[in-house]
Amino acid sequence: MRVLIIGCGYVGIPLGIELLRLGHEVFGVRRSFEGESEMKAVGIQPITTDITNRADLDKIPLPFDWVVNTVSSTQGGVEEYKAVYLEGTRNLIDWLSANPPKKFVYTSSTSVYGQTDASAVKESSPTEPQTDTGKVLVETEKLLLEAAQQNKLPTVILRVAGIYGPDRGHLFKQYLRDEATIAGKGERLINMIHRDDVVGAILAALKSGRAGEVYNAVDDEPVAQIHFFRWLSETLGKEMPPYATEEESAQRKRGLTQKKVSNRRLKMEMGYQFRYPTFRQGYSAEIQRLDNVE
Ligand SMILES: NC(=O)c1ccc[n+]([C@@H]2O[C@H](COP(=O)([O-])OP(=O)(O)OC[C@H]3O[C@@H](n4cnc5c(N)ncnc54)[C@H](OP(=O)(O)O)[C@@H]3O)[C@@H](O)[C@H]2O)c1
Repeated sequence: MRVLIIGCGYVGIPLGIELLRLGHEVFGVRRSFEGESEMKAVGIQPITTDITNRADLDKIPLPFDWVVNTVSSTQGGVEEYKAVYLEGTRNLIDWLSANPPKKFVYTSSTSVYGQTDASAVKESSPTEPQTDTGKVLVETEKLLLEAAQQNKLPTVILRVAGIYGPDRGHLFKQYLRDEATIAGKGERLINMIHRDDVVGAILAALKSGRAGEVYNAVDDEPVAQIHFFRWLSETLGKEMPPYATEEESAQRKRGLTQKKVSNRRLKMEMGYQFRYPTFRQGYSAEIQRLDNVE
C-alpha cells in the first residue's frame, strides 16, 4: 500500500513506523521543515505542506491507497481549529475526491461529546459540545460523513480520547512535578488511551473500519481523577496531591464534561484488542520506561 499520513507527529510517526514494518510505502505531511529529519530518520518520506492552503496540496503526487489525517491544532484557539480541522478537511476532500484512496481515516476527538451527567457515551449519543472548539470538530466530522455518503471519500472517523504515552499525559506529568491538585472531590472522569493503542486503532480502521462510520478510540476504564491519583500514589510510593481550593475547582469545572466513553464498537465490530486496556497497564509501562531512562 502507498500510505499518506497527514500531520505526521506524535501519533503519525509511530503509525508510520508500524506501516513500514508491515511492508507499506509511507509518506508523511508536516507543515514545518523541522519534521522532515524526524520522519526521514525512521524511513517515512517527508512532504512539507500546509493543508490549510488548497493549492499546496496539488504538489503531492496522487494516488494513495490509504490516507490518514492526524493533523492537530498545536495552538489550540478556535480560529486555528477552524483553519486546521475544518478548512484543512474541506481542502483534503476537494483534493482527494477526484482520485480517492481506498480508505481515509480521520482522528477526531471525544470532545465532540458534551455530556455532563457521567452517562455512558456511545457513537450514536448526541454530539452537542459546549466549547467552540468542540463545535468545530463536530462540523468537521459532518463534512467527512457527507463526503462518505456521497461516495467522494471512504472515511472512517475515530473519536480519540486523551492521549498519553512517552512524554505525554498532562496529569501524570503534573503529579511527578508536584504540581497536581485534586479538583472538587476528585470525581471528574478521565477518558484516555495510550498512544500505541491509537496507532493500533488507526491500523484496525484502515483494514476493517466501515466507510461512513464512527468509532470511539478510548480504553476500557474511564477513571475518576482521585482514583487515578490514588493508583499513581500507591504505585510510586509518593504522596497524594493536595486538594485544589474551592475557587480553583470552580474555575476549572467551567465547560468541563463528565462522561464515560464506550469502546464497545471498536472492540466488537473491528475486533480491536487493546495493548493497554486500562491506564494501569499503560502507565505501568510508562513508569518502567522512565525508570529505564534514569
Ligand atoms: N492529544 C490528545 O489528547 C488528543 C485527543 C483527541 C484527539 N486527538 C487527535 O489525535 C490526532 C493526533 O494527535 P497528535 O498528538 O499526534 O498531534 P501532534 O503531534 O500535536 O500534531 C500532528 C502534526 O500536525 C501537523 N500540522 C498541524 N497543522 C498542520 C497543517 N496546517 N498542515 C500540515 N500539517 C499540520 C504538525 O506539524 P508541524 O509540527 O510541522 O507543525 C504536527 O506535527 C490529532 O488529529 C488530534 O486532533 C488528540
